Amino acid sequence: MSDSRLFHPVRLGDRHIENRIVLPPLTRSRATSDGSATELMREYYAQRSGAGLIIAEGTVVTPQASAYANVPGLFTDEQINAWRPVVEASKRVGNAVYCQLWHVGRQSHSSVQPDGLPPQAPSPVAIKGFSYRSPEGRIPYETPRELTTDQIKEIVQAFGTAAANAAKAGFDGVELHGANGYLIEQFLDDGINFRTDEYGGSLENRMRFLFEVLDAVTEQLPANKVGIRFSPSSDWMDAIDSDKRTLFSTVIRRLNNYSLAYLHLVEPGIAGSTNAAKSDDSIPTKELAAHFDGTVIVTGGHDKESAEELIKSGVADLVGFGRLFISNPDLPERFRLNAPLAELNSHGLYGGTERGYTDYPRLDSRFL
Ligand SMILES: Cc1cc2nc3c(=O)[nH]c(=O)nc-3n(C[C@H](O)[C@H](O)[C@H](O)COP(=O)(O)O)c2cc1C
Repeated sequence: MSDSRLFHPVRLGDRHIENRIVLPPLTRSRATSDGSATELMREYYAQRSGAGLIIAEGTVVTPQASAYANVPGLFTDEQINAWRPVVEASKRVGNAVYCQLWHVGRQSHSSVQPDGLPPQAPSPVAIKGFSYRSPEGRIPYETPRELTTDQIKEIVQAFGTAAANAAKAGFDGVELHGANGYLIEQFLDDGINFRTDEYGGSLENRMRFLFEVLDAVTEQLPANKVGIRFSPSSDWMDAIDSDKRTLFSTVIRRLNNYSLAYLHLVEPGIAGSTNAAKSDDSIPTKELAAHFDGTVIVTGGHDKESAEELIKSGVADLVGFGRLFISNPDLPERFRLNAPLAELNSHGLYGGTERGYTDYPRLDSRFL
């Protein structure tokens, strides 16, 4: 066995997994137009099955929850059936395969909404300072429609149903996407959520949607098969809150009531899928992780050395490698052998064919 801490086995929810290397959720837009996983996706995930934990890409819980074409879903029988071979090919003895459950809220656009109307969000406030990636190029975000209380309850139930569907598809568990300014975070942040009902105003009210979703999901799956992801220091996509330190420390402490499989934190200095300048008010991951009683995954800008340091210092139990795992399908093997790493090619990051997706080579035979 390698002496690297990344290869020390660890408990994750109801499983023991053999290494601490995580494939974090990565949207790659290779599903069919009706949100079904494909043979190409099966190959992609199988190539990366050396990860101790695979968290499959953001997967939408309703037809309205999506922002882009070719993103997978988990709300129809066809989608459940299409995920099955992908999950099966991703599994090995010693790893776990989760699915990230996603609703984008105001980050969607009328052009991809089933009714052709603007997307729905906690409050009718458009995203400022960013633009929507349409097939014709960048266009401004629209002012979303305000969700009614009944619609909120429907989305809460849709998360629960999607979690049950994930289990039917063979996933070991699910991760709730509470990061990157998507719907769950849109409810949490006081610079986005201006509701005056029980879902807005006080911190207690703004946390209500998240915990209702968590309750709906843990009615369908044991809590030790459920994780959650946040990006507490990121204001990417205009995710503005007046006091993120209080917000996220309160949320994380309350999560301790659930005995979840894990908490997944994105590091400061990451804006969605790219690096950004760390803001002065960023909150150290170490500080937030210390509020959580269970397993912690940290992702964002790490390489083998910095990941080992994170584990050694007790901040993280597991570490995610996003961009490195895209260009190195056998990343764990390369870490184990201290082999060189391949560079990321921006072609084919979102959508397309096998190019930039499944055509990154495995290690050169010189290293084997
Ligand atoms: C192509 C691409 C797609 C991504 N899609 C998702 C996603 O579906 N859900 C999510 O939570 N994060 C997503 N991310 C963010 C990554 O999970 C990760 O947090 C980010 O890449 C920083 O980690 P890294 O420095 O190891 O790449 C995406 C990143 C990239 C590069």
